[in-house]
Amino acid sequence: MKRGRKRGAVLPERTNAHLRLRVNGESREVSFAPHKTLLEVLREDLGLTGTKHGCELGECGTCTVLLDGKPQLSCLVLGLECEDRPIVTVEGLADGPRPHPLQTAFAELGAAQCGYCTPGILCAAKALLDSRPDPTRQEIKEALSGNLCRCTGYIKIFEAVELAARRRRDPGAQPAQEVLHGRRI
Ligand code: FES
Ligand code: FES
Repeated sequence: MKRGRKRGAVLPERTNAHLRLRVNGESREVSFAPHKTLLEVLREDLGLTGTKHGCELGECGTCTVLLDGKPQLSCLVLGLECEDRPIVTVEGLADGPRPHPLQTAFAELGAAQCGYCTPGILCAAKALLDSRPDPTRQEIKEALSGNLCRCTGYIKIFEAVELAARRRRDPGAQPAQEVLHGRRI
């Protein structure tokens, strides 16, 4: 017997999931197709396009957000799994009009060039500083090891995270001369 859909049969309508997400301190009701990743829900349904699409395979880190305070690759988690769990994206890092100290340090030191990797790196770095206020260079490298950057060579990123960490103890801390202008030879 020939199998398959009968001519003219009506497929059941795909049912959207309706749930409440806690994003950047706000409770947002959202309706989306249940197969969507958190990355897709953030960008397409909540308009939070700061989080970037990269490989969508868990390899580049550009989609990193904070879920329950920890870095999470948003391309690898379903939106459905995030109901009522705190989510922080790059849009939620600033304190009102004041940028997060990491954002300031990145801007001062040129740690963002094209900027595509920057939202994910900022979120991963925030999680690090929240748990290790005074990380070593090695700890910074390890914390950011899942975040690829094709522009900076990473050194400015590491230096910016170190500067932001120093400013937690000493708000007036300035970058070292050689960080800004290179070493004298
Ligand atoms: S887009 Fe998620 S890891 Fe690359
Ligand atoms: S600044 Fe361009 S990929 Fe990192």
